[in-house]
Amino acid sequence: MGEEMNKDVGSATSRVVTIDGPAGSGKSSAARELSSRLGWDYVTTGAIYRTLGLLFVESGEDYKNEDAADRLVSFLTENYGQDPRSGRVALGDRNVTQDIRSPQISEMASIVAQNEYIRRKLLPVQRKVVLSCQGAVVDGRDMGTVVFPEAPLKVFLSATAEERARRRAEELLEKGSRVSVEALVREIHERDERDANRSCAPMKPAEDAVLIDSTKLSLDEVIEQIIGLCSQRGLIPVSEKT
Ligand code: DC
Repeated sequence: MGEEMNKDVGSATSRVVTIDGPAGSGKSSAARELSSRLGWDYVTTGAIYRTLGLLFVESGEDYKNEDAADRLVSFLTENYGQDPRSGRVALGDRNVTQDIRSPQISEMASIVAQNEYIRRKLLPVQRKVVLSCQGAVVDGRDMGTVVFPEAPLKVFLSATAEERARRRAEELLEKGSRVSVEALVREIHERDERDANRSCAPMKPAEDAVLIDSTKLSLDEVIEQIIGLCSQRGLIPVSEKT
């Protein structure tokens, strides 16, 4: 990462809000809604890891092989597209929005995300996507600690594993699949373990992050808290405050 890039990141992050947190904490719903309220773009970095996971699964390449990682990350960089409003994710002409949400790809994304070489390669990809926005709410695991440490507002959103599993089960039921909450709790614990205990850029709040436990909060209540923080930090022009 050159000096120039870091300077650009520094000035451009004056309009970046980061929301980190574990799977199912509600960070993507909160980030999407907040971005729409601020009139900014929404960037979900998990989708970048997921799309790379999809490329590894479909190509059969070994994620520990650095040559393969170079090739697939280059392919991803050239072909990746994320619609900042709808969250639609594309690889060239192919819409991969649904494909990257399968349990197999969720697991693979979390596995490739443990690899330090891959994380280093994905750093400029994530920054490039965000720097192309006029303002962005960006969610992930290490947005506040590693990717945008200079962002003026960093939120770490959490909820108990049981509540996150309950929300996920409800979501799946709406789509017509009935899944046991106990099985989801186990899956969530496994993914949390991997994301929080990896040696490189583990999921954790930045030292100056604001912690919000959403276990007993509705999405609206979470948004109200974050909007209040945005307002305190001068991220909402006075005339636009609600
Ligand atoms: O947010 P998500 O569930 O879509 O992310 C999928 C996986 O990608 C997650 O298990 C860990 C990894 N990830 C990461 O390590 N760092 C990020 N900034 C975003 C996601």
